[in-house]
Amino acid sequence: DTHPTKTVKDYIRTIVDFPHEGIMFRDVTTLFADPRGFRMAIDQMLHPYAGMRIDKVVGLEARGFILGGAIAHQLTVGFVPIRKKGKLPGAVISEEYTLEYGEAVVEIHDDAIRPGETILLVDDLLATGGTAEAGIKLIERLGGEIVGCSFIIDLPELGGRKRLEKMGMDVRALCDFEGL
Ligand code: PRP
Ligand code: MG
Repeated sequence: DTHPTKTVKDYIRTIVDFPHEGIMFRDVTTLFADPRGFRMAIDQMLHPYAGMRIDKVVGLEARGFILGGAIAHQLTVGFVPIRKKGKLPGAVISEEYTLEYGEAVVEIHDDAIRPGETILLVDDLLATGGTAEAGIKLIERLGGEIVGCSFIIDLPELGGRKRLEKMGMDVRALCDFEGL
C-alpha cells in the first residue's frame, strides 16, 4: 500500500510550554497508545541486545515502568522498579540526584538484584542523565552488571548520553530531539 511508513518519532507528540513556558514537552503517551507504535518501540529497544544475556530489566519510575514491563515480558525475564523515595515497602538503598529545581531521591529494594546479574536499564527519555545516573549507581551498588541503557528519546543538547558514556555505559535511544 502507499501508506508512508511511520517511525517511532512520528508517534511522539510535542506539547509546547509544558510544564512551563519555553519547554517543548515530548509526550510518549501517543506512542504508547498506538498498537503499531508501541510494538515498534519495544522491538527496536530490544534489537541491539539480541543474543546477549539479560537476567533482569530495571525500569525508572514512571514511564520506564511501561517500557520495562513490556521488554521484560518479551525477554521472559523479571522486572525490577526503581522508584521515587518512600514508595517501596521493603528494605531499600537510595541515591540522591539533582533536578532542575532542587534534589530528588530514587530507591531500589536491596534484594532485587544479585551480584553478577546482567541488567538492561530502561526509561522513556534521556535529558541531563541525572535520573539514569542515580539508577546506574543503585544497580552497581547491588553488584548488577549493566549491559545497556535504553531510551526512546535522547535530548543530546542536555548532555545525558555523554555523562552515561563516561560511566562506561552502552547508551541507546530510538530518536533525538533538538532543543529542550
Ligand atoms: C523524566 C523522564 C526521565 C527523566 C529524564 O522523568 O521520564 O525519567 O525526566 O531527565 P534527566 O535525564 O534530566 O534526569 P520525571 O522526573 O519527569 O518523572 P516521571 O517519569 O515520573 O514523570
Ligand atoms: Mg521519568
